[in-house]
Amino acid sequence: MRILVVNGPNLNLLGSRETSTYGTATFDDIKALLGQLAKQLSAEIEVFQSNHEGALIDKIQSATKDGYKGILINPAAYGHTSIALRDALLATALPFVEVHISNIYAREEFRHKSLLSDKAAGVVLGFGPKSYLLGLRGLVEVVRENAST
Ligand code: DQA
Repeated sequence: MRILVVNGPNLNLLGSRETSTYGTATFDDIKALLGQLAKQLSAEIEVFQSNHEGALIDKIQSATKDGYKGILINPAAYGHTSIALRDALLATALPFVEVHISNIYAREEFRHKSLLSDKAAGVVLGFGPKSYLLGLRGLVEVVRENAST
């Protein structure tokens, strides 16, 4: 089972960016943890990050033809603003799980709105880097359930 992990803007700076909010784990640390968990779950992942909205959309658009069965996404700030990202996810019709490292509801009001959450198979937030791991577990279950029905 192939899962695409999509990361939005500024997540490449994890580890040095606002560490009191996002912690000290780097993007590479999170990638390594996801890789280990994927192995345990017998899933194959590709981790993609871009600071560019169009690049994220191009990647999502080709997910089905590239053989992915689900998308784990931390949209970062684009989750609060990008109708285009929402539309791209809906166009793939693949199940997706939205993750956030921080608890967006405990932060500024403009972060309380996600343009993706109502269409997500699940949302995990506020667990630090573990949000990604919990999200991957949930998504793999959803994809397996879909495949068996
Ligand atoms: C984030 C939360 C967003 O509000 C923010 O813009 C980010 C990271 C998180 O993982 O907590 O860049 O998605």
